[in-house]
Amino acid sequence: MTMERKYKVAVVGATGAVGTELLRLLEERNFPLKELRLFASDRSKGKQLSFKGRDLPVESLEGARFEGVEIALFSAGAARSLEFAPKATAAGAIVIDNSSAYRNDPDVPLVVPEINSDAIQGYLKKGIIANPNCTTAVMLMGLYPLHRKARVRRMIVTSFQAASGAGAAAMEELRQQSERVLRGEEAEPKIFPHPIAFNLIPHIDQFLETGYTQEEMKLLWETRKILGDPEIEVNATTVRVPVFRAHSVSVHAEFEKKITVAEARALLLKAPGVRLWDDPSKKEYPMPILASDREECYVGRIRQDLFNPKALNLWVVGDQLLKGAALNAVQIAEKLIEGYLQ
Ligand SMILES: NC(=O)c1ccc[n+]([C@@H]2O[C@H](COP(=O)([O-])OP(=O)(O)OC[C@H]3O[C@@H](n4cnc5c(N)ncnc54)[C@H](OP(=O)(O)O)[C@@H]3O)[C@@H](O)[C@H]2O)c1
Repeated sequence: MTMERKYKVAVVGATGAVGTELLRLLEERNFPLKELRLFASDRSKGKQLSFKGRDLPVESLEGARFEGVEIALFSAGAARSLEFAPKATAAGAIVIDNSSAYRNDPDVPLVVPEINSDAIQGYLKKGIIANPNCTTAVMLMGLYPLHRKARVRRMIVTSFQAASGAGAAAMEELRQQSERVLRGEEAEPKIFPHPIAFNLIPHIDQFLETGYTQEEMKLLWETRKILGDPEIEVNATTVRVPVFRAHSVSVHAEFEKKITVAEARALLLKAPGVRLWDDPSKKEYPMPILASDREECYVGRIRQDLFNPKALNLWVVGDQLLKGAALNAVQIAEKLIEGYLQ
């Protein structure tokens, strides 16, 4: 009988929207844990979080030492990752980072396990593996099966991003603002630049000189890195919408080769982590309320371009707290263990 090796794991940002999902997934998937340490800001010091029926203390990240930690899952924002991920790797941990801090670093792999799990071995360079931007991960889950067959060359993308994409406090802002507006009171924006209740905000992350936002550019930069093709073109418009959970993406994709709707559907039916949900006659198409709390990314509304036989339009929806963050990170950790750490 072989004894399964177990690992000492740290979750940094354990009290946040992504951290909460990380804990739930580590428990649900019976991750091989020897010990679990939880970190957050000073504000959370002394809090206890429940894990497998036990209360675990939250430690302050300030002054944290990572001795003995083998895998550190970071979800406390880019500034914390830049400061503390090197401390964790210096102590011998492999960091899987949910923030944008290392995604464009050529010495850090950017991984969606269903697409480029071989890239994981790049962790050997810096001890860090980056998790993609949530919208990029959801979009590529729907696109990759088609890309493998017909090679995507150019995309025009519009995202409809849930409030929880900006964290737990942003989700609360949507809830409180909605209640205020329904009471006839004014909605006060704190996290978002404008009221989010009963509104759409075509502005996520900072504006760059080109007029695009950083979030829109992530869809280009990260698509190129994950698919390993520096020539793919992506023009994106990213929009915050008053939805609690799950991002939706409208994609117009032009391919090198002709691809039909029937071919696309057949490919998506077999794709791991993807659920084809595309029967307009039964009013079946992906929606955030369908994809929330679900691990699969849903794809539907697949249509041939009216003028170009090499182009398709599709609609992809996925729970960005899961495939766009926590689930993808845990899947990377599982692949890392399976392929490199046993
Ligand atoms: N939300 C998403 O859908 C999503 C998707 C992909 C990637 N991400 C990335 O994942 C990261 C976390 O996002 P989130 O949505 O979970 O945000 P969140 O709900 O705001 O949670 C942030 C977490 O970071 C901790 N934190 C904040 N400041 C800290 C500090 N100075 N020192 C130590 N810990 C600190 C918070 O601890 P306290 O509770 O103590 O303040 C909390 O645990 C971000 O980098 C984000 O870009 C998020």
